Amino acid sequence: MTEAWRPDDEDERRGAAGPVKVRVPAKVNLHLGVGPLRRDGFHELNTIYHAISIYDELTARRGDTLALTMEGEGTGELALDDSNLVIRAAHALAGYAGVLPHARLHLRKQIPLAGGLAGGSADAAAALVACDALWGTGLSRDELAGIAADLGSDVPFLIYGGTALGTGRGEAISPVLARPTSWHWVVAIADAGLSTPAAYRELDRLRDSGAAGAPLGSTDALLGALRQRDPRVLARTLGNDLQDAALTMRPALADTLKAGEAAGALTGIVSGSGRPACFSPPARPTRSGSPPS
Ligand code: C5P
Repeated sequence: MTEAWRPDDEDERRGAAGPVKVRVPAKVNLHLGVGPLRRDGFHELNTIYHAISIYDELTARRGDTLALTMEGEGTGELALDDSNLVIRAAHALAGYAGVLPHARLHLRKQIPLAGGLAGGSADAAAALVACDALWGTGLSRDELAGIAADLGSDVPFLIYGGTALGTGRGEAISPVLARPTSWHWVVAIADAGLSTPAAYRELDRLRDSGAAGAPLGSTDALLGALRQRDPRVLARTLGNDLQDAALTMRPALADTLKAGEAAGALTGIVSGSGRPACFSPPARPTRSGSPPS
């Protein structure tokens, strides 16, 4: 869940004088059902997003210009200019709210880059929440999610966090009411990236040639498994329609999945697209007072 240390009501109207810190999680897709290619170049999705407890932290301070610095994962690799999703998010919010996009932003990054874990999208969501508090623009979560949708299909989910159903191209979010449970995941990060558009194109090619597996269909079984809180049941319902495409493009990922199962994981799947992460639920969930992460 995206969490901000928000200023009090009075400050919220004026904007925060001091720094605003926002912590934002990575996500995996427990179910990624990909429908047909739409006229706008996106695929219709039916996905269950699930936030996991690997976090980036964005600090926003008042400034005379818009500037971004960073530390941690991807430092030196990630461009900090106008192409960065954090900067694009700040501009998008400022344009929407009619304020100057002035802030000093600092990103502490733990989410691996291009790891199928939506790290860039998470940072964009964090920038929207942090700048909203810093500038006192006072937008609702739904308004922020509307701006987020223009930045990327999975950015709106990171505004809400938790576990949620994503439809449309993935940007239409409905929270899933799951009982408080902690699931334990193992995430293995591949060492080189896959392009997201290329993974979708490869799936279309496999489908056109009849080589793709049957599409996943409804999320009902997965949602039922989340309610049962039994990882063996959940393991049987995890799925990703992009997995065939990812494995065709990067056959070595199959070895990673096999290694996970050989080490005792109940199952493993590729998360999202891009540089895929393989993940698996190896242990029983535990009761917890906090929302699923
Ligand atoms: O929205 P996002 O920036 O994540 O999309 C990157 C690319 O991934 C799109 O340009 C498109 O090629 C592909 N995509 C898709 N269908 C979706 C989401 C993404 O085909 N639902």
